[in-house]
Amino acid sequence: MSALVDGFGRTVRYLRISVTDRCDFRCVYCMAEEMTFLPRAQLLTLEEIATLSQAFVELGVEKIRLTGGEPLVRQGVLTLVKKLGELEGLRELAMTTNGSGLVKHADALRQGGLDRLNISLDSLKPERFKALTRTGDLSQVVAGIRAARRAGFQSIKLNAVLLKGRNDDEILDLVNFARDEEVDISFIEEMPLGAISEHNRSETFLSSDTVRNLIEEQHPLLPTTETTLGPSRYYRMADSDSRIGFISPHSDNFCGACNRVRVTAEGRLLLCLGNEHSVDLRAVMRRNPGDSQRLKSSIVSAMKKKPERHHFTTDGEVQTVRFMNATGG
Ligand code: GTP
Ligand code: 5AD
Ligand code: SF4
Repeated sequence: MSALVDGFGRTVRYLRISVTDRCDFRCVYCMAEEMTFLPRAQLLTLEEIATLSQAFVELGVEKIRLTGGEPLVRQGVLTLVKKLGELEGLRELAMTTNGSGLVKHADALRQGGLDRLNISLDSLKPERFKALTRTGDLSQVVAGIRAARRAGFQSIKLNAVLLKGRNDDEILDLVNFARDEEVDISFIEEMPLGAISEHNRSETFLSSDTVRNLIEEQHPLLPTTETTLGPSRYYRMADSDSRIGFISPHSDNFCGACNRVRVTAEGRLLLCLGNEHSVDLRAVMRRNPGDSQRLKSSIVSAMKKKPERHHFTTDGEVQTVRFMNATGG
């Protein structure tokens, strides 16, 4: 039984922890070209992340996903994975990564107890991939995806944020790539976090319905009720094990079934991606070292602050000043 129930009767079982706001990429929908990052002293230490995770698991969280920024640029993250992998009661330990570090780290992650990997991939064209990530190297990420498969991850999901006029001509190529690599893929509607100023989000918005219709012209999609406890709605194709998911914060609001909260790299418990309600858990831990009861009661009472839903719109206005890399998506 989870002790984490919010004011709308939703039970929280999924915790997303951003282990760093830093990243080796600068994706155009996530960051501005020039970013300042948090000084190290403001980040939770790895010990604090482990303490927090333990408290959440004791309160009923079953799934933890490590995010960033790019989680693999945080020093010591492999040790953290190993530690969290040993948490009794945790059913699933996952990570969302840009894939650039997987050739180097996939084996250690798998051996350390990571169950699932989500890897961002928005284009299969090297030049375009470079333009969208500003710094990324497509061949390194593709090699990373293959390294993750070889390392034995049973569940790998690609994430593609679609932007009209920038990568929407690659939808079928991305589906076919996922089929060939025997991995799942989710298509994501862009969310208005952070003043990116790279493109006008109202002009690049693409609805999941449009994407689904386009895929169906080649691959009939069968709806499923399968869930990973995340926001993706999955479909299956008759002739492949790869699932196609749609994450549609605009066209199909999933907040009614929300089961998750996030901890930012600074240790702020953020109760909704699209709202600012938060509680400073770093302060609670630093003021009361070793007091896990105090920490747990702060987490339980924070649930009352969880808002009903986000109010993202597609009109191009930035609704949340916070950048995605500070939040972990
Ligand atoms: P699994 O379901 O475990 O595969 O992962 P996930 O889809 O929950 O996580 P992932 O890190 O792959 O995120 C994919 C996209 O979903 C990103 O764009 C996230 O920002 C978005 N996302 C995840 N949770 C939420 C949420 O609670 N609200 C909103 N609006 N978007 C979310
Ligand atoms: N809207 C939607 N998804 C985003 N991501 C990053 N920024 C945005 C945004 N503004 C995605 C990344 C990654 C995941 C953690 O969040 O592509 O797959
Ligand atoms: Fe880095 Fe992920 Fe943001 Fe891209 S979306 S800049 S890979 S944190």
